[in-house]
Amino acid sequence: MHTMTTMQRLIQISDTHLGRDPGPIRAGYPDSDTQLARILDALPREPAADVLLLSGDLAEDPEPATYARLTKRLRARHESMLALAGNHDDSQTLRAALEPGTCQVHGERMLGPWKLVGLDSSTPGEAAGRLDAAECERLERSLSADPDRPTIVALHHPPVAIGSAWMDRLGLLDPDALFTVLDRHPQVRACLFGHIHQDFRVRRGTVEFLGCPSTCVQFSPGSEEFAVDAALDAGYRVLDLYPDGRFKTQVVRVPGTHTAAGHLA
Ligand SMILES: [Fe+2]
Repeated sequence: MHTMTTMQRLIQISDTHLGRDPGPIRAGYPDSDTQLARILDALPREPAADVLLLSGDLAEDPEPATYARLTKRLRARHESMLALAGNHDDSQTLRAALEPGTCQVHGERMLGPWKLVGLDSSTPGEAAGRLDAAECERLERSLSADPDRPTIVALHHPPVAIGSAWMDRLGLLDPDALFTVLDRHPQVRACLFGHIHQDFRVRRGTVEFLGCPSTCVQFSPGSEEFAVDAALDAGYRVLDLYPDGRFKTQVVRVPGTHTAAGHLA
């Protein structure tokens, strides 16, 4: 167990896209359930994560049966967890399935001297995301209440352009609503997101904006149109958070989890 004076480890997995039934959700995709199992099995144990962040699009179709399979898999884990809804999820169904005993959905979590705030950017019926006024106010209150805690903000949709035309139309709409809040609170160190199925990193002011691979299928960086990178392995992001407010982060790929490998299996 880590204390206030030692490192805290956050591990992010994202875009698991479990279908209503096990198996690939599209032709050319690997099996989402098998992929998730392989990524979870590959997560480091020394040190293990103090919190596992699941940053949305956990289901391809937000049916109770899908979330029940996810719940079953997560119940076997020892990490504490925080989940976010993505555009493919339904916030209420996700919460009803995961919150009883398995995993917190949205809200906030202390990590030693650090704080993690999970926001809901999902908008029913829309692929793009939006933070409504209530979520922006919740973030503002949370940051105002703890100005001395280094903080990580997490949401499913990227608030920054990633240089991929089709994806940049589907990111967080009205990111200025978020930036306005972040700009008032210099304790925010990083903003984590999913949705883009790729590693990405850009700094805006004092905040690092960090993307994450999918556990399922990888999208080609820099592509004008939707494109899968079948040769790139799936993975996760690790953040090691130090008591002085600094952090280190890297994306780790799990060998043999690229789409082509899944097809041959
Ligand atoms: Fe998404």
